[in-house]
Amino acid sequence: MTDRSQVAASARAKALREQLEHHNHQYYVLDAPEISDVEYDALLQELQLLESENPELVTPNSPTQRVGAAPAADFPASAHREPMRSLANAFSVDDLNDFDQRIRDQLDIAEVEYVAEPKLDGLSVNLRYENGVLVQAATRGDGEVCEEVTANARTIGSIPLQLRAEGLPESIEIRGEIVIRLKDFERLNQQRLAANERLFANPRNAAAGSMRQLDSRITATRPLTLFAFGVGTCSEPLAETHYGVLEQLRIWGFRINERVECVAGVRGCESFYERLIEDRDSLDYEVDGAVYKVNDRGVWNTLGSTARAPRWAIAHKLPAREATTVVESISVSVGRTGVLTPVAELTPVSVGGVVVSRATLHNLDEVRRKDVRVNDTVMVRRAGDVIPEIVGVVESKRPAGSEPWEMVSHCPACGSDVVRLDDEAAHRCLAGLFCPAQRKGAIEHYVSRKAMDIDGLGEKLIDQLVDSERVKTVSDLYQLSMADLRGMERMGEKSSQNLIDAIEKSKTTTLARFLYALGISQVGEVTARALAQQFGSLDRLMSADEDTLSEVRDIGPVVAQSVHGFFAEPHNREVIESLRAAGVYWPEDEGHADAKDLPLAGKTFVLTGSLQTFTRDEAQARLEALGGKVTSSVSKKTDYVVVGDSPGSKQKKAEELGVPLLDEDAFEALLVGH
Ligand code: IVH
Repeated sequence: MTDRSQVAASARAKALREQLEHHNHQYYVLDAPEISDVEYDALLQELQLLESENPELVTPNSPTQRVGAAPAADFPASAHREPMRSLANAFSVDDLNDFDQRIRDQLDIAEVEYVAEPKLDGLSVNLRYENGVLVQAATRGDGEVCEEVTANARTIGSIPLQLRAEGLPESIEIRGEIVIRLKDFERLNQQRLAANERLFANPRNAAAGSMRQLDSRITATRPLTLFAFGVGTCSEPLAETHYGVLEQLRIWGFRINERVECVAGVRGCESFYERLIEDRDSLDYEVDGAVYKVNDRGVWNTLGSTARAPRWAIAHKLPAREATTVVESISVSVGRTGVLTPVAELTPVSVGGVVVSRATLHNLDEVRRKDVRVNDTVMVRRAGDVIPEIVGVVESKRPAGSEPWEMVSHCPACGSDVVRLDDEAAHRCLAGLFCPAQRKGAIEHYVSRKAMDIDGLGEKLIDQLVDSERVKTVSDLYQLSMADLRGMERMGEKSSQNLIDAIEKSKTTTLARFLYALGISQVGEVTARALAQQFGSLDRLMSADEDTLSEVRDIGPVVAQSVHGFFAEPHNREVIESLRAAGVYWPEDEGHADAKDLPLAGKTFVLTGSLQTFTRDEAQARLEALGGKVTSSVSKKTDYVVVGDSPGSKQKKAEELGVPLLDEDAFEALLVGH
């Protein structure tokens, strides 16, 4: 590379890094993104490309490093330059008055100004910046000796890799709390539930566990947020007040909790505390107390510290949100898609001011991991509006002779057999077409656009039709009369007639749509098409065994098990028979052919950009009808990329890999030619 282009690459990399860090700050610290995720990714990709072509441009603090790095052997330990002390606790207003009185006596003043802050429930970190660049991140450890977690900290969007401003101190330590926000925590546990991984008991454990990953690529996937709350050592003098320091940290690019404020004396602290309790349930992070710090940093040294905690700050504990109670029974609820969820029915107990009488146990594996049994004494915990959780069992109080809990063998809502598909954590009722618990969900899916496409039958109307028992299964839709609809809210003559017409029209369909409409677990549109194409007839499909099903292209054993189980359920067969009796019809054997005889058999296509004469779905259906396969990303195995208007990065990728491109004309010619 010439000197000049090296200079250009280096300047471009610098500009990209600055832009990316700016957008990162907007997104993670200010919650005010200025560009879309796609635009952000495009900038990041450009920088990644530049860096891969010019490895000398990579810096440890490049935004590209936020994705994490290969696992480390361990976390190096080192001594904190200044110990990370803990806080003394006040459990009552008396304790608070004692704390305040001591300070007033020692400083000989009438009233103390405090900074009141929420005490966030996460884990604390110390971040060292040299000349504005993050050089080390460490957990508290035992307060004296830390564990270095720098690679992990770099993956956290709200931790600046480079402080934003001129005239920065040569060296400064920033301290703060790493938390997982409640919304993010729920999403994280949902993902883990789906992947059958052990759930985190609470956001604090999740945050701590995420920071203790030796593989920072895992940390990078965890939704961690840093709130800065103070400083450690600093090479230069800082603002005179604590509030001023926090303001400075905000300017440097840190997130400061929005509730932080200056208050006057104990009365000010109490008022902050009461408001915090009032709003506690609506906060999106867990708070276990308030912290009051003397605002004037000039007196901190005078006030001093004990070995454990400073004398210029105190934590005012909030009431615990955990309580013990007894599991009276374990019931099973059936969700709209047939998933069975065990629920602990508890002796009602007040947890942080709210009476809790039920807690979800998620699935059988979770019940087993926690070994929750009927009549056990358990610790329950509530956070924000999140559904209460059982944290653990008090084993010493377990009554003699108790047995581990077992999942029911029949659906509590409809009595059908319960199954557990091979790689799923959940048990399911497969009688989706019949089971009352799944009625609304099944009907919503059946009428949806890509299924039977019955326009005018929305969620509210389905609710009314099911609640009034006019519709129990999807086949009842075909018996609806004008008189039935007239009684429903907001259904005039015209809309009722339109709906009846739409229902009538839906009777003529295709086998693929019909299969998709049945809502068989694991059977999406693509699988439904593959099944229709392979079997060509519903009866043939219904009588296929699991082995035959597994032989179909793109269908694995779990899908085969699910399809077989669905058709083996007599209740589902009855509904399918009534649908056929009501006149639901599709031409059989259409498009049924041995896939390998089709003209595009074995060819893989990727679609990008928008075509004039086809929607994406149509283009895909046409290719599949000819035996072609459509995938979403370009690789060496792709045979053709069909390029419409405003194509995305897939075109570029195809060009790089030398995959042939088809424009719309060429694409049509290909379809017509066959
Ligand atoms: S100040 C010397 N401020 O609480 C002062 N700590 O029990 C030390 N914490 O280890 C901490 N929110 O992890 C401070 N606004 C806040 C806090 C806070 C949470 C945690 C922190 C600390 C622990 C002390």
